[in-house]
Amino acid sequence: MLLFMHSPTFRCLVALCFCGILGVSRASSILFSGGTIIAFDQATEALQVLRNSSVLVVDDRIVSLFDSRLDVTIPEGTEEIDVTGKIVSPGFVDTHRHGWQTGFKTIASNTSLSEYFVRYGEFASQDKLTAEDVYIGQLAGLLQTLNAGVTTILDHAHGSWSDETAQAGLDGSIDSGARVFHGFTVHALTNGYSITDQLAKLQSVAQEGKFKNTSVSLGLAYDGFSTATAEEVNSVIDAAKQANVSVVTTHYGSGPWGSDNSPEVLHSYNFLNISTPIVFSHANFLTTQGASLLRSTNQYVSTAPESKSHFGVGPQTAYHIQDQAALGVDTHSTFSADIITQARIWLQTVRRTLYVQVLDKWNVPTNNPMSVNQAFLLATRHGGLALRRQDIGILAEGAKADVVVFSGDSPGLLGWVDPVAAVVLHSHVGDIEHVLVEGRFVKRDGKLMVGNYAGIQQRFLKSARRLQHLWKETPYPALEGAFNDIADYEPVKEVDTLRGDGTGRGCHLAGFH
Ligand SMILES: *[C@@H]1O[C@H](CO)[C@@H](O)[C@H](O)[C@H]1NC(C)=O
Ligand SMILES: *[C@@H]1O[C@H](CO)[C@@H](O)[C@H](O)[C@H]1NC(C)=O
Ligand SMILES: *[C@@H]1O[C@H](CO)[C@@H](O)[C@H](O)[C@H]1NC(C)=O
Ligand SMILES: *[C@@H]1O[C@H](CO)[C@@H](O)[C@H](O)[C@H]1NC(C)=O
Ligand SMILES: *[C@@H]1O[C@H](CO)[C@@H](O)[C@H](O)[C@H]1NC(C)=O
Repeated sequence: MLLFMHSPTFRCLVALCFCGILGVSRASSILFSGGTIIAFDQATEALQVLRNSSVLVVDDRIVSLFDSRLDVTIPEGTEEIDVTGKIVSPGFVDTHRHGWQTGFKTIASNTSLSEYFVRYGEFASQDKLTAEDVYIGQLAGLLQTLNAGVTTILDHAHGSWSDETAQAGLDGSIDSGARVFHGFTVHALTNGYSITDQLAKLQSVAQEGKFKNTSVSLGLAYDGFSTATAEEVNSVIDAAKQANVSVVTTHYGSGPWGSDNSPEVLHSYNFLNISTPIVFSHANFLTTQGASLLRSTNQYVSTAPESKSHFGVGPQTAYHIQDQAALGVDTHSTFSADIITQARIWLQTVRRTLYVQVLDKWNVPTNNPMSVNQAFLLATRHGGLALRRQDIGILAEGAKADVVVFSGDSPGLLGWVDPVAAVVLHSHVGDIEHVLVEGRFVKRDGKLMVGNYAGIQQRFLKSARRLQHLWKETPYPALEGAFNDIADYEPVKEVDTLRGDGTGRGCHLAGFH
């Protein structure tokens, strides 16, 4: 039941909404009532399931979470949404992706990482994508991710080969309505767009501040820490500080991949023990020393479990660093774009890895090594922590109102009692009814709320078809000798799924002209 009381809290809310710097209209408030809420208890740092409870959102924040029996002041004009029987979850956080690649969807389903680098990566694509391709790919990709309940994304935006393409990626992030930490990328290109040009663009983007008053903030993505000259690295670090970036992210491939942007290397530049969050993507060959540096400086790795399997990037040891890790998607054009799938794949991968340690001794495991709550926290709260945002990835008073509402009675979910297990192990994107970013509906009743989505679809398809034809006509490279002079290439045994002749591998692009 709604109570309209003029308590001090209520007057305070009214005062806030009339005295905002922009002098905008009254607070907009939404009440999700009577649902099962996956809340976060800041005192115990644990998930807390609240049953038959409600979430009050005022403007961009969660103002209260309460049991229906308590007296809570509901601002006048609050829209009430009955979520009886449904699951209310915080928005999911993706700490690693490349939004511009959306147009490659399904054409690289079989690709290995060594093929990816020479066919689909930032350098292979530099002369092929226009600013329009980057913009519409970024926008369509982010809308896909909002549809899947991912409300915060750290984008390593390396689809930038000119001022125009760099700007287009940022504009796509801004227009999506998602909370994007847009990792403006500085990289060594061969097309004449120099590091100096890129740093100048970074400064002008920061000064222009087009992203201010949106859900986007400016980050930096840079992979040159381990390979570029100290002069270049220092100039990039200085530019990042001057642009006041909200996060820095770097690919930490290592092992046979090179790209050894480790915590150790950043620390040698005095660029690790700093107030800015640094997110190391992949970190498959993290050392114990690197892990210890991450802990002492409170920096995070982004584990991308599906990418790990799809591309075979490294050993399965990342479970050692789950206390300083969040989840990422990576190349969403080649596989799932949602974080729940990543949480599920990661949970089951860690379980298998740790079970095998016992089974290898011909012993029988007694217990299960990782819980659904742990997977859920990696998919939500830890993403916020990786970005040093205590107010993201949780449902708690004062947190950003990034809210996802799951149907409770879809055929797949019917019968649940544990909402966390329901989400992590049984839900899919189609079960997501509503998604809010900062108190704004971006998906409602199963539909994206962006204006003219049909027009965006048409514009995206035009770009995607052009790119897909272009790539179809590009011959596959012969991968021989060594990868970047680092490690030898070696073919992997391909599986055979057919009895008798043939393997069943297929050729799905055959009819695509
Ligand atoms: C929740 O509400 C349902 C129906 O409204 C009721 O049957 C149930 O007892 C309530 N549970 C709690 C814990 O209050
Ligand atoms: C800031 O955003 C709000 C809500 O989108 C809008 O109403 C307002 O005009 C914006 N202010 C500026 C200065 O852009
Ligand atoms: C720098 O960014 C932080 C948030 O990332 C913000 O709180 C601060 O006000 C910014 N400082 C300047 C000088 O813009
Ligand atoms: C990081 O800085 C803090 C505070 O200045 C210091 O106590 C700590 O030892 C530093 N850690 C490393 C790894 O340098
Ligand atoms: C997968 O690989 C096979 C053989 O390597 C190829 O014929 C097929 O077209 C590929 N499928 C896709 C979707 O690229």
